[in-house]
Amino acid sequence: MRMYDIIMKKRNGGELTKEEIDFFVEGYTKGKIPDYQAAALMMAVYFRKMTEEETLALTMAMAHSGDMLDLRDIHGFKVDKHSTGGVGDKTSLALTPMVAACGIPVAKMSGRGLGHTGGTIDKLESFPGFTTALTRERFIENVNRIGIAIMGQTADLAPADKKLYALRDVTATVDNMSLIASSIMSKKLAAGADGIVLDVKTGSGAFMKSEQDARALAQEMVTIGRNAGRKTIAVISDMDQPLGYTVGNALEVKEAIDTLKGKGPADFTELCMTLGSQMLIAAGKAEDSDTAGQMLRQVIDDGSALHRLAEFVEAQDGDSRAVYEPDMLPVAEIIRPIAAPKSGYIEKIRCDEVGICSLILGGGRETKESKIDLSVGLVLCRKAGDYVREGEPLVMVHANDEGRAREAERRYLAACTIAPTPPRRRAFIKDIIH
Ligand code: URA
Repeated sequence: MRMYDIIMKKRNGGELTKEEIDFFVEGYTKGKIPDYQAAALMMAVYFRKMTEEETLALTMAMAHSGDMLDLRDIHGFKVDKHSTGGVGDKTSLALTPMVAACGIPVAKMSGRGLGHTGGTIDKLESFPGFTTALTRERFIENVNRIGIAIMGQTADLAPADKKLYALRDVTATVDNMSLIASSIMSKKLAAGADGIVLDVKTGSGAFMKSEQDARALAQEMVTIGRNAGRKTIAVISDMDQPLGYTVGNALEVKEAIDTLKGKGPADFTELCMTLGSQMLIAAGKAEDSDTAGQMLRQVIDDGSALHRLAEFVEAQDGDSRAVYEPDMLPVAEIIRPIAAPKSGYIEKIRCDEVGICSLILGGGRETKESKIDLSVGLVLCRKAGDYVREGEPLVMVHANDEGRAREAERRYLAACTIAPTPPRRRAFIKDIIH
């Protein structure tokens, strides 16, 4: 078999066989196939697309390119959750303790920030000492003992995806449905959970800008999960403005803690309840979303979900006192409002731009080596549809550098549109695909 022939077959619109896909993934992972041939194939896939069979073959080959975690030592039905990425997306921080407090073991693999989107691991590191570098034994022991463990992606987990993702990132071949679906699902399958609940975002802060594309991606991932024998459900949710009111690592942790106390923003609480219900149903703990909703509300009302977060933070070497005293979390030196330039209704907040404002403030990485400033970010005072008077605050900027604060202010104002009439309301949860 020759890589040249595989590239040409795809370039001409042919359908690759499982053997050809395995040959490519194995050869590329082992460094036998060079980047330029892999990039040529990715571009051919970008234009010619892949069939369902090809996408499944690519997913399985990438999932098996390294270690497959064996979670059989964890008792019960294990559920993993994955978001396609968003701005202000602190969902795992509140959702995992809620679900664990309902008796479902959560064995989760999380990532760091990517582009304009934030990552769960960076946020969790707001707790001093917190680590996600767990051995397999400690990961399993923690899930069995307290019901949650979150681990970072190791070099041994789906290494083909790690290499291909970096290549796609610099060759303009990221936003292809089959490539995204296989990238996400290969990691999830290798991470070993019995059930996978996907939060597929759509809108200006998401990877899939249109609802139609988000729906197609969700469908593709659900099909892959089903074909691989894992119970997979996708919730399609709005990411046309930041989730909740906070964007930035420690700020988002505080909002997740508020949500676990029952004082969270409406959209974020709705998302946690919807995803949590799907996780409880998938694990067979609840028959329908009404029962699941009651169970989730109960663990918030009786404080057990908040307590579970503290246990989880402590089990991963973090200082759990901050769960009960969030003022201990990192705080920025400069905290000031951006005033509305005119009166009217907030028509649109370009969500990817808000993510970039947080990056500018230091909340994300500019290079792989950058150190994140956990304290900086934005706290929105108005969201889409709200009325604001000229001079009232649109958002509070949390910064540690005057120049960066000014740049973020300029960009935020450009990202926010104020109109004389209220915008049309959009549904927050768009669909649930089984
Ligand atoms: N997230 C991933 O892990 N892979 C993609 O291709 C896109 C988003």
